[in-house]
Amino acid sequence: VGFPRRELRAAYDRDASDYEQRFAAIQAPKIEAVLQRCMPQPTDRVVDLGCGTGLLARALPPLARPVLALDLSAGMLRAGDLSGAQRVQADLARLPLRDGCLDLAYAITSLLGERGQVLGALLEVRRVLRPGGRLALTLLQSELWEDVALDLRACGLSPGEAFTCGQDRGWICRRA
Ligand SMILES: C[S@@+](CC[C@H](N)C(=O)[O-])C[C@H]1O[C@@H](n2cnc3c(N)ncnc32)[C@H](O)[C@@H]1O
Repeated sequence: VGFPRRELRAAYDRDASDYEQRFAAIQAPKIEAVLQRCMPQPTDRVVDLGCGTGLLARALPPLARPVLALDLSAGMLRAGDLSGAQRVQADLARLPLRDGCLDLAYAITSLLGERGQVLGALLEVRRVLRPGGRLALTLLQSELWEDVALDLRACGLSPGEAFTCGQDRGWICRRA
């Protein structure tokens, strides 16, 4: 069953103030596993998609931090320390970004919902990445379906070997 966007946004708005207290320790191994495999290059244009309160941004060295921090929930964007990134309130299903304008996108536990919703977001991510650009993605294992890697390829995002990180499964993908 898909999550209605309005309810999802309201839930994150409501819980934003204690998100880090509840979830920072749960997100930490995912962020660590992703950064072990995918660090920005110095000139990369980087976005954190579904950035929440900015845990990923703060795990990166200052010069490698995302230029854009995008989230559906204004409450999460407000509650967070996004370390200088420009805050954008937007839906992953309709990114307000030009085609091919990014080198690297992170999406840590932020593509939520049923397969169709996730695939829609993946197609949007592919659109805004330049050819050869990277997507560092983790999805909740409890929401996975068979053949995720096949779907990633079908979306034009060629996945490296999958890895497990806490509750999530991760892939570093390259845009075809
Ligand atoms: C589990 S939190 C993860 C936050 C952050 N990536 C982290 O690791 O702490 C999921 C985040 O994704 C955002 N999100 C969920 N669906 C979204 C969508 N369709 N578009 C943009 N952001 C979304 C939520 O508002 C929330 O901040």
